[in-house]
Amino acid sequence: MSKHHVLTTINGEPTEFLCEPQLTLLDVLRDELRLTGSKEGCSSGDCGACSVTVDGRLVCSCLMLAVEAEGKSIQTVEGMATGHDLHPLQQKFLEHAALQCGFCTPGVLVASKALLERNPDPTETEVRYWLAGNLCRCTGYDKIVRAVMDAAAEMRGATP
Ligand code: FES
Ligand code: FES
Repeated sequence: MSKHHVLTTINGEPTEFLCEPQLTLLDVLRDELRLTGSKEGCSSGDCGACSVTVDGRLVCSCLMLAVEAEGKSIQTVEGMATGHDLHPLQQKFLEHAALQCGFCTPGVLVASKALLERNPDPTETEVRYWLAGNLCRCTGYDKIVRAVMDAAAEMRGATP
């Protein structure tokens, strides 16, 4: 099958790849570009483990064809830290022990970042609703929610 040439931007870096038309963005991220932070939990849009943003919108990369990345700006979990400096959300997830197996964690982090870019001061209910599409089998969600609330406070410069 002939391959398509795709020009895109991933985590701020101009990126190009060749892919077969049926491949998902998640396939290409993981298998071609070796960005394995995005996880494949269900392949059907149900778990959120593959979450990325595309032009600022939260997307399940398992539901998007890789060819649709042409001309878009993709952000993955690999783009959250700045060098060795973790994003505040990553730091708070560590401090609150908001992960266990970690399989859901990249998607939860990407989704939480997307939330705080839209709403820097969410209520707990808003955090829980926003993250309803990110399934976690381990933590019971409380520590995740606390970490997101704490990161939001820190990013606002507020005393938690
Ligand atoms: S792997 Fe994409 S939503 Fe589960
Ligand atoms: S930490 Fe294991 S699925 Fe969330």
